[in-house]
Amino acid sequence: MTTEDLLHRRHEALAPSYRLFYDDPVHLVRGEGVHLWDSDGRQYLDCYNNVPSVGHCHPHVVSAIAEQAGTLNTHTRYLHDGVVTLAERLGSRLGGDLGSAWLQCSGTEANDLAIQVARAASGNNGVIVTEHAYHGNSTLVRALSSNRHSGSERPDWIQVVDPPNTYRGQHRSDDAATRYADQVAEAARVLSRHGHGVAAILIDCSWDAPGVLTAPDGYVAQAADHVWEAGGLVIADEVQAGYCRLGTNFWGHERYGLLPDIVTMGKPMGAGHPVAATVTTPAIAAAFADQRSYFNTFGGNPVSAAAANAVLDVIEQEDLLANVTNTGEVLRAGLESLAHDHELIGNVSGAGLFWGIDLVTDRDSRQPLSPELTQGFITALRNNGVLMGAAGVHGNVVKMRPPLPFSKDNATHALETLAIVLSDFAAHVG
Ligand SMILES: Cc1ncc(COP(=O)(O)O)c(C=O)c1O
Repeated sequence: MTTEDLLHRRHEALAPSYRLFYDDPVHLVRGEGVHLWDSDGRQYLDCYNNVPSVGHCHPHVVSAIAEQAGTLNTHTRYLHDGVVTLAERLGSRLGGDLGSAWLQCSGTEANDLAIQVARAASGNNGVIVTEHAYHGNSTLVRALSSNRHSGSERPDWIQVVDPPNTYRGQHRSDDAATRYADQVAEAARVLSRHGHGVAAILIDCSWDAPGVLTAPDGYVAQAADHVWEAGGLVIADEVQAGYCRLGTNFWGHERYGLLPDIVTMGKPMGAGHPVAATVTTPAIAAAFADQRSYFNTFGGNPVSAAAANAVLDVIEQEDLLANVTNTGEVLRAGLESLAHDHELIGNVSGAGLFWGIDLVTDRDSRQPLSPELTQGFITALRNNGVLMGAAGVHGNVVKMRPPLPFSKDNATHALETLAIVLSDFAAHVG
């Protein structure tokens, strides 16, 4: 069967709302570590996928899944060691008394539950989110994913604040942290005026969809204080930022010294197996339990728990946090050097193994490269055997987010390929 045949069948059989990367889609058939292979046997360096967190098809995760699937798979209404161990391990990695967990199958479900829990615990209804954020696709969470709909579609229990973007945003000077946090205080006042009060702020400490940002010092703490003063809870969405992604710390919120009330996580937890979690304090969990029970058929089943425990084993055994931190410094230096040499790069932001390269047509005006040309850039990378993606409010940010075992040699390879494409592209665009 050719790729064209498969494309045709996919078009016929899957709903048209699905999108593929690349006009000429990549037909992957195998993965190992940080590499992928297509149906023609072509190898790619994976600089995009965070879900295979410990590397594609890691043997420890594969055998943990296979062994558990061949032994028993039920659900959380029977006693089983796997899910309890997983919840304990997550709790031991979180600060304060965060240690009461619910298990799900997707980040969407984790965030959806977190909002319900925050409402139950606070007695309030309103939620503050960041402009152009993505938090999932249920009816509740899609409404909070401000990159999925226009402002006029927003119900009045949602208030949206700017992402703390000091390169493109409206606040770029020394007081940017306070100015952006002031928007959170104002959002809280508006929610109170509308009679909703503040149930929560939902915050992704990697600001992935708005372009992979680093917040100015003090922003997260001030924003959280405004929410707590209004009687709301702080929910850290760690679906992107968690699991070592930003280096130095296991969680994105730790980078900002934040102790959230609720933490949600998903994508990297099972290295491809669908596992997600919402974790909070026993007091907040009890406030929710007073109102209702919770059951999720597949969430926390023994096979999912085995996958998630195996991922944590690999992170510990291979010291992947140190790898992310060290390789991240190679990427930081290399990307800054590329930015120095290539006018097409307006800005580089990120940390660890999560970077956004903001492409511009003019450095002074910061005019973003069009989304079409940015896609052309990503396709050129793919044609050179390197997979990256796009993000950002203007669709002009090249997103680099490889599996956690990405080595310094892999980083060098990615940087060399970026240099080739940047040079070719400058000639082409110019
Ligand atoms: C920050 C963030 N939160 C939540 C989600 C939703 O996760 P899922 O696709 O597993 O429902 C995503 C997915 O991309 C995400 O990036």
